[in-house]
Amino acid sequence: MTWWVLGSKKEEAEKIIVSPDGRTKVQVNLKNSQLFYTVFRDGKTISKKSRLDFEIICEEPIRNNLKMIRSRLSHHEETIEMPWGEDRYLNNNYVEGVYYLAETTKAKRIYTIRFRVFDNAVAFRYEIPPQPKFSSIVIKNELTEFNVDLNSIAWQIPAYQPDRYEYNYERANVYDLVNSVHTPLTIKTPNGYYLSIHEAALYDYGSMTIKLNQDRILTSDITPLSDGTKAHVNLPFQTPWRLIMIANSAIELTTNRTMYCLNDPPAGDFSWVETLKFIGIWWAMYVGEWTWAPGERHGATTAHAKQYIDYAAELGIRGVLIEGWNEGWEGDWLENGVHNKFTVATPDFDLEGVARYAAFKNIELVGHHETVGFIDNYENQLEDAYNYYAANGVHYIKTGYAGSMITINGHREYHHSQVGVNHYQKTVQLAAKKRICLDIHEPIKGTGIERTWPNLLSREGARGQEYEGGALSPSHACYLPYTRLLSGGMDYTNGIFDITNNVKRISTTLARQVAYFVTIYSDMAMAADRPFMYKDKFPELFKFIQSVPTNFEKTIPLAGEVGDFYVVARKDRNSNNWYIGGVTDSNARHVHINLDFLPQGTYRARLYLDGSDAHYRDNPYSINITERHLGRSDSLDIYMAAGGGFAISLELLQSNGA
Ligand code: NOJ
Repeated sequence: MTWWVLGSKKEEAEKIIVSPDGRTKVQVNLKNSQLFYTVFRDGKTISKKSRLDFEIICEEPIRNNLKMIRSRLSHHEETIEMPWGEDRYLNNNYVEGVYYLAETTKAKRIYTIRFRVFDNAVAFRYEIPPQPKFSSIVIKNELTEFNVDLNSIAWQIPAYQPDRYEYNYERANVYDLVNSVHTPLTIKTPNGYYLSIHEAALYDYGSMTIKLNQDRILTSDITPLSDGTKAHVNLPFQTPWRLIMIANSAIELTTNRTMYCLNDPPAGDFSWVETLKFIGIWWAMYVGEWTWAPGERHGATTAHAKQYIDYAAELGIRGVLIEGWNEGWEGDWLENGVHNKFTVATPDFDLEGVARYAAFKNIELVGHHETVGFIDNYENQLEDAYNYYAANGVHYIKTGYAGSMITINGHREYHHSQVGVNHYQKTVQLAAKKRICLDIHEPIKGTGIERTWPNLLSREGARGQEYEGGALSPSHACYLPYTRLLSGGMDYTNGIFDITNNVKRISTTLARQVAYFVTIYSDMAMAADRPFMYKDKFPELFKFIQSVPTNFEKTIPLAGEVGDFYVVARKDRNSNNWYIGGVTDSNARHVHINLDFLPQGTYRARLYLDGSDAHYRDNPYSINITERHLGRSDSLDIYMAAGGGFAISLELLQSNGA
């Protein structure tokens, strides 16, 4: 499984780590006292010789004069059970190579590189123990290379931009990535592999963006702090895992769960966490009917909240989100966030009364904290704000960090810098203590920490449907499964049925709005339109939203290509029922679905399909809802209109003795 090749000097070594299936290999080289790694799959190069490099303020870079003093190789295999998610069981199966390095110079600093080689991924991290001469460091740079072929295609969003991760994915050649882009960075290599470069377990460190270095090699670019450094850390310290997911097809990439495997098990008892479907006082603000700010058209009034609670009870939806109930939304709220008071309601909103009414109706309230990025203001109130919700029986909070930067300790910082990462983590841990679940908008990207902190139920972190009305094309939701969703579930605010509304015209067909509940997974899933659209206008279509779960046993990707289309089947965690969803870009297409993945049995299928004359622009409401019996020997030819999609629920009637 491994072998040493000793070079002429003691400082030179080569080691090879081979994945459990024998097909993925990492070669670790110490050459001229510098450290490199190379990745292969089936003998083909995935990433050429790449440098592992660290620069520390007031110190020489940890780059040269290294020698390997010890190494260890071991095989691990375990089944992980996720508390919720797209797949209940994950196979955490890898070969680990740990390399202990020391400098040959007087500095005698030491560090460790830990590699984990999976069949479908390679991960590694730097571990820095307390040093002979110091116990904390300021990191100037981490220069980890990912030397993929320059002629690869990348699907990217730019980093360091005012709208954070909220950009349209664009196709580029790797040789054009001179400016930093976010991860997960999905790449197709000329030799046919689909890769995604990402990170796992991001704690106490700047998040990793990627760009070409002066040698034209993709390199980590860690989000800086306002002082220009990358992170201030105490030792021992370990970086997040650097992760390269590897697949033979785009569709195979979508179920790569290595990111979760690299995170620690739950940090306590989270048996109280429950996934949630909810409606909310929300879209009415986007279409201009109501406002966040108090006034004549204020959305978050006691009366509206009670009305929405009644709707939720009638519609069979467990949760109701209320935005704009607290003081601070007056005037230009994007500028005035420093005045937000998270324990003071506007005069027309009675939180205690609404909470009592919700409890009486058995509805969960989803509280809301829009910080507008004023972290100092939020952190000063954090404990009180969470206590206030907890005392009123609120178990879910949607948080928001609108604005191009955050203000923390009086400094303007990137959301994705070390201090930003630490703030988000603080909210997750405090919420866990109060038994509160979070749905974070304008979040730090997902790196799988939900495995350790399962109360972090969802995030936004990409353009969602609030960008409809001109800034979303039908291809956007066909990129997400292959890019953003590799970092975990997303609150895309699905289910807008009022497609032709005057303010935010939706660029999809009607059927596609329910497809999103399958294609864009979220443990906190919002049915985002105003509830009369569900109850009065399209009650038959709403049945799909009622039935679709927020927690799945298993996910089977069926067909797709990055940015073009995506079709996926998922089994409910609490029943034997299955759900299939599909979306296409602005090209209509037929997909053939073989149902042989279903277990034996007869299923009552309800199909929500685009009409043959549907089109997202000219005829979005054309829809066919039909019912029939299906089983594993059946197959379906489904038509998706331009900008369309479909959803199918399959309810097991008889298991045929299986
Ligand atoms: C942006 C969030 O994405 C959206 O859902 C929220 O309504 C607004 N900020 C206001 O908090």
